[in-house]
Amino acid sequence: METLLKVPQGQFILQRLPQRKNETLRAWDAADEYLLAYLAENKVIKDNAKVLVLNDSFGALAVALNYFKPVAVSDSWLSQRSTQLNFSANKLPLKSVCLKNSLDWPTHSMDVVLIKVPKTLALLEDQLFRLQALLTPESTVIAVGMVKAMSASVWKLMERYLGSTAPSLAKKKARLIFTTLLSEQKQFVNPYPVYYQLENTDYRIANHANVFSRDSLDIGTRFLLQHLPSHSDAKDIVDLGCGNGIVGLILARDHPLASLIFIDESYMAVASAKENFNRVFDNRDAEFCIADGLADFKDDSIDLVVCNPPFHQQNIVGNHIALTMFKQSKRVLCKGGELRVIGNRHLNYQIDLKRLFGQCEVISSNKKFVIWTVKK
Ligand SMILES: C[S@@+](CC[C@H](N)C(=O)[O-])C[C@H]1O[C@@H](n2cnc3c(N)ncnc32)[C@H](O)[C@@H]1O
Repeated sequence: METLLKVPQGQFILQRLPQRKNETLRAWDAADEYLLAYLAENKVIKDNAKVLVLNDSFGALAVALNYFKPVAVSDSWLSQRSTQLNFSANKLPLKSVCLKNSLDWPTHSMDVVLIKVPKTLALLEDQLFRLQALLTPESTVIAVGMVKAMSASVWKLMERYLGSTAPSLAKKKARLIFTTLLSEQKQFVNPYPVYYQLENTDYRIANHANVFSRDSLDIGTRFLLQHLPSHSDAKDIVDLGCGNGIVGLILARDHPLASLIFIDESYMAVASAKENFNRVFDNRDAEFCIADGLADFKDDSIDLVVCNPPFHQQNIVGNHIALTMFKQSKRVLCKGGELRVIGNRHLNYQIDLKRLFGQCEVISSNKKFVIWTVKK
């Protein structure tokens, strides 16, 4: 796989996380290349300018713009770790980038803001809302993305929160969006987090903007909730890829003596899960980890892992993260420990589960979903 990005700012070695044998995907896309070429040709960024990069996929933008010591805001732990890895791989000092997460923004004003349009519109809206406070009438804001990822709603949100927009020509199916900022910024109320009541409970569930199925209970998750282990003797239980944490909440309710661990690579997911757990169980501790699944967990340390795996990473659809989660679970589960997984029927997770664990049973299935269990 090609790992050398060649742009006017220089040549940089770039890798994506999680690392995979025989990786077929690059750590950047045509949108990154287009934006970097445009910035250089038009000398958009002056020396000493304060630069903010939003949603850099794996650090391509921050690495190429390291001279300007950008602030990079992302909701993805994997993106941030990739950025650090790629700074090191190019022998760039880590202090040349200031990494911030999606709930911990910089507070000073920005001269140039570069937005890689995220997959989730709600995240874009949350970011545009937060961005208003950092802009001055002289700030330059450019959004970039692959044309297919920039629906009419993206343009509408940019206009609502920032000002009028104009498109660049498309190049290699990527496009830039230029903005003319409103002279007076509109301060709407941030619509996020959003809340709903979890059916059959009195739990009010908080969902930050980038959370999976933030507006209502996902139908797959609903099915999983109906088939969770209850009152088992599991002591250490993981909600893997927890999102807003409702799977872990129900597990905690049905295992009053167990320790719950909520894990997600999204800062907004873990913040939502923490808020939801603490509201329901005000005197109970739990662990909340922003991480690449169970990568940092000890072998043979967990009794039960429950997982509704992700089927994409950013814009790339696939079962590679799910497969990594299954392998991690096998390592981390105690002997006799259980992994319970839900998936769309067509994803056929039982093939990998059976190969890894030697057996795999169906707990329940409906037209769309199957719930499998495997034991170590
Ligand atoms: C299909 S959602 C399930 C969310 C929640 N458990 C539910 O059922 O509503 C998958 C979750 O996995 C998270 N995720 C993706 N990659 C991850 C990784 N490498 N490590 C941990 N979590 C990850 C996503 O952020 C997302 O919240």
